Amino acid sequence: MLDGKTIVLGVTGGIAAYKAAEVVRSFVKAGANVQVVMTANARQFVSPLTLQTLSGQPVCTDLFDLGLESQIGHIQVARAAHLIMVIPATANIIAKMAAGIADDYLTTVLLAATAPIVVCPAMNVKMYENPVVQRNLETLRQRGCIIVEPEAGELACKEEGTGRLAELTTILETAHRALTPGSLAGRRVLVSAGPTWEAFDPVRYISNPSTGKMGYALATVAARRSAEVHLVSGPTYLHPPLGVHLHRIVTALQMEECITGLARDMDVIIMAAAVGDYRPAEASPHKVKKAEGDLWVQLLRNPDILAGLGQRRRDGQVLVGFAAETENLVENAMQKLTQKRLDFIVANNLVNPGSGFGCDTNEVKIIRKDGSMDELPRMPKERVAGEILNRIESLLAST
Ligand SMILES: Cc1cc2nc3c(=O)[nH]c(=O)nc-3n(C[C@H](O)[C@H](O)[C@H](O)COP(=O)(O)O)c2cc1C
Repeated sequence: MLDGKTIVLGVTGGIAAYKAAEVVRSFVKAGANVQVVMTANARQFVSPLTLQTLSGQPVCTDLFDLGLESQIGHIQVARAAHLIMVIPATANIIAKMAAGIADDYLTTVLLAATAPIVVCPAMNVKMYENPVVQRNLETLRQRGCIIVEPEAGELACKEEGTGRLAELTTILETAHRALTPGSLAGRRVLVSAGPTWEAFDPVRYISNPSTGKMGYALATVAARRSAEVHLVSGPTYLHPPLGVHLHRIVTALQMEECITGLARDMDVIIMAAAVGDYRPAEASPHKVKKAEGDLWVQLLRNPDILAGLGQRRRDGQVLVGFAAETENLVENAMQKLTQKRLDFIVANNLVNPGSGFGCDTNEVKIIRKDGSMDELPRMPKERVAGEILNRIESLLAST
């Protein structure tokens, strides 16, 4: 998702500097070109060799390095950046940035840069709460820097409080957002995700193997594109994407009630959840005890949420469904597309390896109302989400 992007990673002299290594690795894995710039003090905490090996590029530290500066390297580094991230950001670098000091490689790059700047502070709680540090952070915010707030917990100095570097996932997602154009700004997008659980006693339920990964990927990418995202999620172990409105439900009836309440105000609805078609007619309040012989459970039909949305959809609202099938994929998907009055349907064959429930990849066909179809190769679910949202954006632009 970061192909062709150049990220300048400024590393400063805090105890969390070792975490920069993991950030470099994740950016490189996502396809970015990473240029590390270290302060002299950062080298006390993490070896330039580690960051150089992980980034695959020489690390810049010495402003007066004759080799690197023959082309005025610090200005070139600043010019090439699509994004600059300072991680960890010491109280010292925050103060220098606020004051406009340019006395080493990193501070000089930061002053010369026009790319967005993300600052990830990490320090002792008393340092962080010091009004001077808070005032400096406010100055940076007002200048347009994105501050990734540190988290609370036990700190390296054994004190408790706010000052620990934010979680890696939060830092990476902030970078993705800063690098993604806000093509869905002002749009409200509802995504359903995950399975439903239909209980027949307090410890047993009927469900399916959906993990919610496809729906969560859609919510993540829509939020990156600046949409207001409402994620209606069945039970999953996934972390909620940064900045989305999460509505947790368990049963199909709860999902229907939640979605019905939200649907009218949405510009886009994407139903990626694997909603149970049936629920036990009765749910025992106590665990059903094992007895001799078989147990018969009567199943009632759950409401068809997607069909209801299709009947009630308002002009200009985009409605997208998913069809997960094990046979006659295209025929079944086409039927669902027409019956439920969808704009398009995303069909995936559950028997293909690397596709469907639980995988990190998916191989889908996107089928439109006019019968035309795009067959996408197997790709990570976030990329599939991007392809789906590109088509939704085209529909929104044409209405
Ligand atoms: C063991 C140790 C850990 C430190 N951890 C931090 C820290 O987490 N955050 C911070 O702001 N400063 C920390 N400092 C202080 C900075 O290293 C010091 O302010 C230094 O001047 C920062 O330089 P730089 O911002 O140019 O990298 C630490 C110092 C030491 C000796």
